[in-house]
Amino acid sequence: MPKAIIIYTTRTGETKRIAELIGEGLRFSGAEVSLFNVNEIKNESALDGYDAYVFGSATYHGDMMQGMKTFLFLAEKANLAGKKGGSFGAFGWSGEAPDRIFNTMKNIFNMDMVSGSLRLKSSSLGGGITMAQDYGREIAKKLGL
Ligand SMILES: Cc1cc2nc3c(=O)[nH]c(=O)nc-3n(C[C@H](O)[C@H](O)[C@H](O)COP(=O)(O)O)c2cc1C
Repeated sequence: MPKAIIIYTTRTGETKRIAELIGEGLRFSGAEVSLFNVNEIKNESALDGYDAYVFGSATYHGDMMQGMKTFLFLAEKANLAGKKGGSFGAFGWSGEAPDRIFNTMKNIFNMDMVSGSLRLKSSSLGGGITMAQDYGREIAKKLGL
């Protein structure tokens, strides 16, 4: 069974909710999912052994949260080249964080990314639940599920 890891950072919990829904979509498709807050990842060896990597941060002051920035420097040391990837995050109006994470995964880590990042104002608004689950399914599809 292919394995996916989802790592998020959040201030008020919305990005965690999106992470959980993406995890549901992956599980529905048959992937094994591990979900972590970025604070739980202490070194790059925690990233060993997965087939897909999905990283998420809310946007604050036009940027990703500090915890995700620090984590991406750590993830640079893991060999993620060629692994499947996606990114996501809750936002209010500009939502820069998910695309910045996506571009780092694509251009620096050389990962095999899905078509784009997932940005949601809220998982409970405008079909957000389905969109987040579908994003999980899209990643699963890239894993051949
Ligand atoms: C002080 C502050 C600054 C924010 N700055 C931005 C911003 O620059 N762009 C944006 O799209 N949303 C911004 N937001 C909105 C948050 O991204 C939004 O509330 C999001 O749902 C929070 O997600 P979280 O629950 O995962 O922390 C800001 C919110 C606060 C409280």
